[in-house]
Amino acid sequence: MATLIVVGSQWGDEGKGKIVDLLAQEAQIVVRFQGGSNAGHTVITKRGTYVFHLVPSGILYRGKLCMLGNGVVIDPAGLIQELDHLIERGVKIGRNLIISPRAHLIMPYHKALDAVSEEAKGSRRIGTTGRGIGPAYADKMARVGIRIGDLLQPDVFRQKVEENLVAMNRHLHHVYQADRFSAEKICHEYLGYADRLRPYVADVSALLDRAIAQGRHILFEGAQGTHLDIDFGTYPYVTSSNATAGGACTGTGVGPTKIDGVIGVTKAYTTRVGEGPFPTELTDEMGEALKTRGQEFGATTGRQRRCGWLDSVLLRYAVRVNGLTSLAVTKLDVLDGQSELKICTGYRHRGKLYKEMPADLTVLRECTPVYERLPGWSMPTTGITGYKQLPMQAKRYLARIEELAACPISMISTGSRREDVIVLHHPLTGGRMRSLKRHSA
Ligand code: IMP
Repeated sequence: MATLIVVGSQWGDEGKGKIVDLLAQEAQIVVRFQGGSNAGHTVITKRGTYVFHLVPSGILYRGKLCMLGNGVVIDPAGLIQELDHLIERGVKIGRNLIISPRAHLIMPYHKALDAVSEEAKGSRRIGTTGRGIGPAYADKMARVGIRIGDLLQPDVFRQKVEENLVAMNRHLHHVYQADRFSAEKICHEYLGYADRLRPYVADVSALLDRAIAQGRHILFEGAQGTHLDIDFGTYPYVTSSNATAGGACTGTGVGPTKIDGVIGVTKAYTTRVGEGPFPTELTDEMGEALKTRGQEFGATTGRQRRCGWLDSVLLRYAVRVNGLTSLAVTKLDVLDGQSELKICTGYRHRGKLYKEMPADLTVLRECTPVYERLPGWSMPTTGITGYKQLPMQAKRYLARIEELAACPISMISTGSRREDVIVLHHPLTGGRMRSLKRHSA
């Protein structure tokens, strides 16, 4: 398998950073295809903890090419800050970073609009990360977005900023009584970023096409998760991009026939940041225990994550809409020490049983989850690297996930360190997948 998409199967924060970091050892190229600095991918190595917002985590390895595709929205100040921080810590950044000229820019007025529109929504707020993501994608779709390529041409950039500010300032001021922006100030700030980013700008789609023809191993790194996808997530409590596998094609310029596999990352339980329905949410001690043991605080905003039992309805849906070829289950060790575990297998709402993800948010908000109970395990699993060493109950739990999701598990993460992982099947270099039952035999 030479080209592999990595997506989140839940509401983001599944541990994609760690899985991408691990798979990147065997890849030559890692490319981000959507989202922006709303993402926070954490990688823990012997040299310390790295939190990435925009740069693909593959940058930590020498000789890997990292790309930001056209589907990504870029806050240039944030990107430069992230690059400087990596350089300070000894990471080499030069010809190993490529940015698509078609990627859209996050402008200061996008961040302002994100903040004031959230505030105005009151109890109907989305709980965004406040990074200007929604307004930047809205401008892209309204065909008034400003792209990285425009930033490299001062006259074009200036004209677009001036044109956009006519409507944007009116909107900010009249609807939200917010401050107006000055085109001069924005141009001064942003054109200063242009020279710094210019050396990295190149045609991502063309480079990927050549690399695929040469048989290079390529990872497409998704941000957020399936249920935050603009089309398939719990709309409107979603992000503004396609976080599902299709986004990898439209967000990099690679055709679907060139993709060999899709791995979905899922926690062994469920979490969600921000507002929106969450059928298996736990507001009791168990929820608190998951939050504490799993250190469930957002890498981008520091907000507490809501925690709950694993939901196989969400997972099965992720398998379907992404065409997942395997699953990576993370944070298994967070469940250590529980006498009993639950997995949601359906939703009951007004006498009807839902086995598939409903589009209607009312059902998700009001439903009672149907649970299957499984025995927990007392033995610590942190750091286990061999499947055979897992307690029998953990194997049963994982096998049941595989069965309910109808997708084989290829990797199991058992701790926060890079090396805390069980690789049952390497999604890039492994041969034929085997089910967990065969691994137990
Ligand atoms: P936005 O992407 O900042 O517009 O936020 C929209 C929704 O997506 C909010 O509920 C955020 O909390 C959520 N969100 C955005 N990025 C992430 C992420 O990387 N992990 C988890 N949730 C996210």
